[in-house]
Amino acid sequence: MTVMSKNPAAAPAVQSGGKGAISIRNVTKIYDPGGVNVVAVDNCSLEIAPGEICMIVGPSGCGKTTLLNAIAGFHSITSGTIHLDGELLCGPDKPKAEQGADRIVVFQNGALFPWKTIRDNVAYGPIVQGRLSPVEARGKADHMLAEAGLHDVGDKYPGEVSSGMARRAEIVRALINDPRVLLLDEPYRAMDALTKSIMHEALLEMYDRTKVTIFFITHDLEESIFLGDRVVVMTTRPAQVKKIVDVRIPRPRNYKVLSSNEFRVLFAEAKDAVHEEAIKAFEAGERELA
Ligand SMILES: Nc1ncnc2c1ncn2[C@@H]1O[C@H](COP(=O)(O)OP(=O)(O)O)[C@@H](O)[C@H]1O
Ligand SMILES: [Mg+2]
Repeated sequence: MTVMSKNPAAAPAVQSGGKGAISIRNVTKIYDPGGVNVVAVDNCSLEIAPGEICMIVGPSGCGKTTLLNAIAGFHSITSGTIHLDGELLCGPDKPKAEQGADRIVVFQNGALFPWKTIRDNVAYGPIVQGRLSPVEARGKADHMLAEAGLHDVGDKYPGEVSSGMARRAEIVRALINDPRVLLLDEPYRAMDALTKSIMHEALLEMYDRTKVTIFFITHDLEESIFLGDRVVVMTTRPAQVKKIVDVRIPRPRNYKVLSSNEFRVLFAEAKDAVHEEAIKAFEAGERELA
């Protein structure tokens, strides 16, 4: 793949095992063409490097979730192409990507089965896909839970652990499938600041072990810069890439970077771009919380 360094949507160089490159080219998504005709995404292009943490920010209703759904295979696209590691996920002859364990979505409201223990929740994917025997899957689940600092929760049910623990278990449940890409849609939106910071540290620790590509939608600019290799600011609907903020703060990162000058400069850069688009969105009447 040729990556033009002058293209602002080109992928950055990120250290990784080399899997999980997402290539979004000229993607347009029109809901209900001929009817309501909502152009959610318009000719949008973005190259995401293997192992990149790519943060997506932009006004409510601009088309972020639409893009995530197209990558995940939940929705079709109207035109353009999306490739994963050079393989076509969706394009002109195949408008909707197949869903697969190579791309796992972590939902905002959680999706652990309440009737299964945390261990069995985590072990579920490899068992139903027939990739591991139940004994192997549960063993791997215990190992990965312990790595994530969740030593004693395997026997518990989701309702018996804190929401922070449940959210961590969800990420472990995604990672046990060795995905190439994790797709997160405002996963920590409803959390208080302290729980959120614990989640960030846990996510970054898991990322350091796996170097999985992360496509992460958020409204929280501080979160986007703290976690991301790049922050992609989308325009108001229809979504296009407005600006990309390169976050060259070395990893591992800890909360001290939040008070650094470098952080403040990046924050202001992203904030200006988002603010400009938020005003346009507001003027266009996109006031719903999406
Ligand atoms: N199924 C649908 N049918 C019609 N319009 C939709 C549908 N889903 C989303 N939209 C519209 O597409 C736009 C983008 O939505 P979405 O991708 O959810 O935005 P975001 O995640 O950035 O808040 C919004 O205006 C939303 O109302
Ligand atoms: Mg959304």
